[in-house]
Amino acid sequence: MKKELSEIQKKIIELKKKRKALILAHNYQIMEIQEIADFVGDSLQLARKSADVKGYDMIIFSGVNFMAEMAAVLSNGIPVYIPDNRALCPLAAYVSAEKIREMKKKYPGVPVVVYVNTTAEAKSEADYICTSGSAVEVVELIGADRVLFGPDAHLAEFVRAHTDVEIIDIEPRGHCYVHRQFDAAQIILLKEEYPDAIAIAHPECSKEVQEVSDMVGSTGMMVKTVAESDYKTFIIATELGLVQQLQAQHPDKRIIPAYDGAVCQQMKKQTLEKILYVLENLPEENLIKVPEEYANHLKLILDRMSKVKGQGPARAVKH
Ligand code: 13P
Ligand code: SF4
Repeated sequence: MKKELSEIQKKIIELKKKRKALILAHNYQIMEIQEIADFVGDSLQLARKSADVKGYDMIIFSGVNFMAEMAAVLSNGIPVYIPDNRALCPLAAYVSAEKIREMKKKYPGVPVVVYVNTTAEAKSEADYICTSGSAVEVVELIGADRVLFGPDAHLAEFVRAHTDVEIIDIEPRGHCYVHRQFDAAQIILLKEEYPDAIAIAHPECSKEVQEVSDMVGSTGMMVKTVAESDYKTFIIATELGLVQQLQAQHPDKRIIPAYDGAVCQQMKKQTLEKILYVLENLPEENLIKVPEEYANHLKLILDRMSKVKGQGPARAVKH
């Protein structure tokens, strides 16, 4: 049975039609936002979607700031608004432009790959950019023997396990506090409790968690796997918003959070009230502006990523 929309959701839908606004939402957004969004996806899918927007006068990007910045650079001049502009990803704080410059001095000529979860300033020092769904492919596409990689040391470990390219951490302490909360022992226990289940972890989880999981991949890959697989029970190690989306989409399947406290406070800064406020007032402070010096370089490195399929890494982790 289709869920009845709330008054505020109805208001947003009406106003977004009037404004010709497209709402893009990340998989970690609260369900009430996912329900009124025009497109929900992982960071790569959202970047690609924003490059292909036609017939709209504005985009509202419900996610964290660095994702909205990518949308603004790719949207062909369509203004991008973020409902709460304080939604900054703490993982991005681990690698500054200065830190990358230092590493480039230490490893001259070694290509720099940054994860999308970085500031626009840090990206301006990178040669390549990747998402969780494209990291292995991007590293292999470069064709170098070694690369500098950051800020996520766990994603780096995942890439290392799937390529012969030497992966040098820009900052070995870089991690996502949400994905650090998953515990390998807890996943082993859940697998014992649900022997028919398949466990899927995000590559921002620790190596131990990745190793006890059956698959490792982006949020987009998790959505695809649960939809297409014959398995009926899934243990999911990523932020709760995605778990709730999967539960809503697949009432016939059992979706078990590997830890139900895994909530990203930054993603959850976005609310229906803030989306409505932006639609009503088009506040200047919510308009995403990427300084030109960063925007041109960001476009260039995003274009380099356009060659990858980005459906992976869906490869199973070897036990
Ligand atoms: P995805 O690209 O897998 O959606 O990941 C984004 C993110 O921020 C994970 O924490
Ligand atoms: Fe950043 Fe982690 Fe939140 Fe993703 S889940 S936006 S990496 S803090």
